[in-house]
Amino acid sequence: MATPDLPLRPVDGLHPGRDQPDHDALGGQFLLRFSAVIRTAKTHDVSNQAFQRQLGDFLAILQTLFEEENEVALAAVADYFYLDGRRIKANASLMPVYHGLLGEFERRTLGGLRFLQGAHPAELERFFQLFMAAENPAIAETLPQAIEEARIEHVVTIPASEIDADDLSRQLTEQKEKTERGRARRIFWRAVLGTKKVLLRAQQTGRPDLRQAKRLVQPVVDSIMKHEYSIVGLTAVKDHDEYTYAHCVNVSILSVGIGQALGLPRQVLADLGVAGLVHDIGKLAVPGEVLRKPAKLLPEEWAMMKRHPLEGVKMTMRMPGLSMLTLDTMRVCLEHHMAFDRTGYPEVAQEWGQATLSRIVAVSDCFDAISAHRAYHRRPRSPFEALAYMLGPTRVSFDPAALWGLVRTVGLYPAGSVLQTDTGRLVLALSPNVEDPRRPFCRLLTDDDQNTLSPEQAEEWNPMPPTVRVVRVLKPEEFEVSATEQLAA
Ligand SMILES: [Fe+2]
Ligand SMILES: [Fe+2]
Repeated sequence: MATPDLPLRPVDGLHPGRDQPDHDALGGQFLLRFSAVIRTAKTHDVSNQAFQRQLGDFLAILQTLFEEENEVALAAVADYFYLDGRRIKANASLMPVYHGLLGEFERRTLGGLRFLQGAHPAELERFFQLFMAAENPAIAETLPQAIEEARIEHVVTIPASEIDADDLSRQLTEQKEKTERGRARRIFWRAVLGTKKVLLRAQQTGRPDLRQAKRLVQPVVDSIMKHEYSIVGLTAVKDHDEYTYAHCVNVSILSVGIGQALGLPRQVLADLGVAGLVHDIGKLAVPGEVLRKPAKLLPEEWAMMKRHPLEGVKMTMRMPGLSMLTLDTMRVCLEHHMAFDRTGYPEVAQEWGQATLSRIVAVSDCFDAISAHRAYHRRPRSPFEALAYMLGPTRVSFDPAALWGLVRTVGLYPAGSVLQTDTGRLVLALSPNVEDPRRPFCRLLTDDDQNTLSPEQAEEWNPMPPTVRVVRVLKPEEFEVSATEQLAA
């Protein structure tokens, strides 16, 4: 059913004709609204009000763009979206949507879409119906044909094959480290979105699909074994909507890094990555209002929370067959909140032998969580403060070898730290340097005269040169730009 007069919500912060529209903001809004239409179409019929509202919002942004151009082209090339030929840069909160949509395009072998001036609600409604139907892999590739048959004139598909040539030349001209970073980003976000699926599925079936988890973790293990540590840098990006799932992926990545530093063989690293990914699966059995409660937990709520290790074991036990992977996962679920000095939970006898993999996951879990838990702190600790805290007052709670592995993995100045050098420059740590934990890969934030560099002007140190020394690590409140926004870009 077409709705001729859709209420059009204004496009946030954009006033075409008055200000120069901010391309990044506009691109981000376009992706958000496109994605919102698809998300709603997954659960609602196109005649439903919820769908119509999202479609109205999408039309509003199209019309804003049509004020400048006769057509709007959205292309997906080499893991980036381009709106009218300009790359849409994503901030941290846009990342899940960005990578979710890239996946939607990839599944349909779609390189891009052109929306032409004159696109009307009924036509877009039909387009989204066909777009959703093409989720079925059997008919995914027939989307362009279906659009033609439906006589949709103002939406034109661009096949992925037509964009491949650009893609290749881009990859060839890009520096190696940039490609590595792009690859890491792709692996990371695939793992986050895949983990979301694994957990939602586990909620229905009552058990985690460890084989699916293994498929998500494999590329992480491959990267770390090749000493490609950009993926470790991505664990510092925490302020986005999918953090619950990213936490699982972060713990998996950090654990594989620690395992690699300790010399564990590939097979064990793969199992460790899976166990790290599902360590908190037992939280599915904890009521949502307890999990999300922003205030301090009451004693009975805390008791529910403390049951998640045991619930995790019960869920993993429901997996058919018994393998080393299942056993390792059960141990990690049970023991990841046990401290090295046997404080922590569940309570066990002093002589309880905590498995090596559990000790590793305990370290990565704590490192990731204390730099993100807004509920417990006035502000989250920076990754550098988290490391200092774990190596300082609380070091007795952790296995010293696993702590050493953490330093080898994240470096002394973990990604997301803003550093002041002896030359007076400010730099942002992007990812660790496996050769030297004191010299991370960095983006320069100021020049020699302390003038702030815009992201376009900023150079990188790949890695920090040996002649430069770090004299101070800034506190997050001392720097006005969100470090994680910069990391995600
Ligand atoms: Fe946990
Ligand atoms: Fe956790």
